[in-house]
Amino acid sequence: MAFPHQHSHSRPPFNQAPSMAKSGFIRSKTTSLLSDSFLFIGGILVTILALGTLWSFLNPNPNPNPVHDFSALSSDGDSLSCDSGTQSFNLSHDPPSPTFYDDPTLTYTIDKKITNWDQKRKQWLRHHPSFAAGLENRILLLTGSQPSPCKNPIGDHLLLRFFKNKVDYCRIHGCDVFYNNALLHPKMTTFWAKLPVVKAAMLAHPEAEWIWWVDSDALFTDMEFTLPLGRYKAHNLVVHGWAHLIYEKKSWVSLNAGVFLIRNCQWSMDFMDVWASMGPQTPSYDNWGKIQKSIFKDKVFQESDDQTALVYLLLKERDKWADKIYLEGEYYFEGYWLEIIGSLENITSKYVEMERGVRTLRRRHAEKVGEFYGALREEYLVDAGNGRGSWRRPFITHFTGCQPCSGAHNQEYSEQSCWDGMNKALNFADNQVLRKYGFVHPSLLDSTSVNPLPYDSPA
Ligand SMILES: *[C@@H]1O[C@H](CO)[C@@H](O)[C@H](O)[C@H]1NC(C)=O
Ligand SMILES: *[C@@H]1O[C@H](CO)[C@@H](O)[C@H](O)[C@H]1NC(C)=O
Repeated sequence: MAFPHQHSHSRPPFNQAPSMAKSGFIRSKTTSLLSDSFLFIGGILVTILALGTLWSFLNPNPNPNPVHDFSALSSDGDSLSCDSGTQSFNLSHDPPSPTFYDDPTLTYTIDKKITNWDQKRKQWLRHHPSFAAGLENRILLLTGSQPSPCKNPIGDHLLLRFFKNKVDYCRIHGCDVFYNNALLHPKMTTFWAKLPVVKAAMLAHPEAEWIWWVDSDALFTDMEFTLPLGRYKAHNLVVHGWAHLIYEKKSWVSLNAGVFLIRNCQWSMDFMDVWASMGPQTPSYDNWGKIQKSIFKDKVFQESDDQTALVYLLLKERDKWADKIYLEGEYYFEGYWLEIIGSLENITSKYVEMERGVRTLRRRHAEKVGEFYGALREEYLVDAGNGRGSWRRPFITHFTGCQPCSGAHNQEYSEQSCWDGMNKALNFADNQVLRKYGFVHPSLLDSTSVNPLPYDSPA
């Protein structure tokens, strides 16, 4: 599928940055008049507000000889779908021949390095041939939230709906999902919590080529779109980001670490080691916070965070890592909700109009064969554009700064705009799902009501 290049270089991707800076400023000025502990809490709050989510994780690490050529094992080519081959897995086959699982020195924890992962994974796959077909495009979607109940009274309800959305997407496209709500390293909390989970998931899922981290406050708003994995063939990490904002503007919001694809390979293990070395579990954590703040002038809080750490590695160790990191800016690999939310009604009308004109697009069908209709629709989306200003459904909408679980949303937004925005996006996505079940929410702001869909709708 082709993505027009418009918007990819010119758009200011995270225009929440200046406003966050402002509210962060006001916050620290206010708190400095109060006690140290309040200041500390304030700092954490600003951190959380600025990053927009309790759980965002990223991870990778480099290796001079990445070996993820499983072509001998895989019969699949360029398919964009992540479900090829799932039908033939032999789930009751685990021969006694030893693999990395039998090595007592190998640990799942983030504090110990893994070596020769590509060979180890390959060996496991050799012993489990039923996972070979479709290997290259196999994805495990990873997400999660905190171990305790949400402070926001509707927080757990919202998280459930955000999670339902991810399950919906993966049921339609055949990816596996793992929802984690345990802290796998006691000191790696909030946005650092994802790194240990990504590592553990790689070891638990040698059959998955990609781990797809998606923050708990991000949702799929195009249930048909499939990742253009073909374009990431030569890369090991994919994030939504913009090179000039990293290398010229040196901005900590030049990319977003809340959604990323990372290849299950040694490079990623190595990258995650270096990345995690700026985390709160290390003695140099405070120092990394200072270094980050001195380089990235728009950063508003003191603590070293995973997103800035990633930008830092691109900027300072460009030669070592950058050639394997794909900065996706051509479509909403992840998009800022405020930029998106106002367009959902118009997008709905555009799609209705399209379906009125094309009988096949409105043909009723089984949910399982949805990818066929998604591919067909591409033909009618060639003029839709991508990203900001486009009338294509945005792929992933990210509620950065809304904090559905804690409720401690960024002061720049009203509570109402966050909750209305989430409701609207969740129903927008749910309508694409419910339709396969014969129903539709007549209003994007009303989650409760549904109407049955007449035959041949919307003719
Ligand atoms: C799956 O593996 C088991 C155990 O090795 C074997 O007995 C069975 O025949 C396999 N099933 C298929 C469909 O290959
Ligand atoms: C939606 O479409 C209407 C009518 O074409 C237009 O006036 C309006 O500006 C559009 N709104 C957005 C947010 O694009």
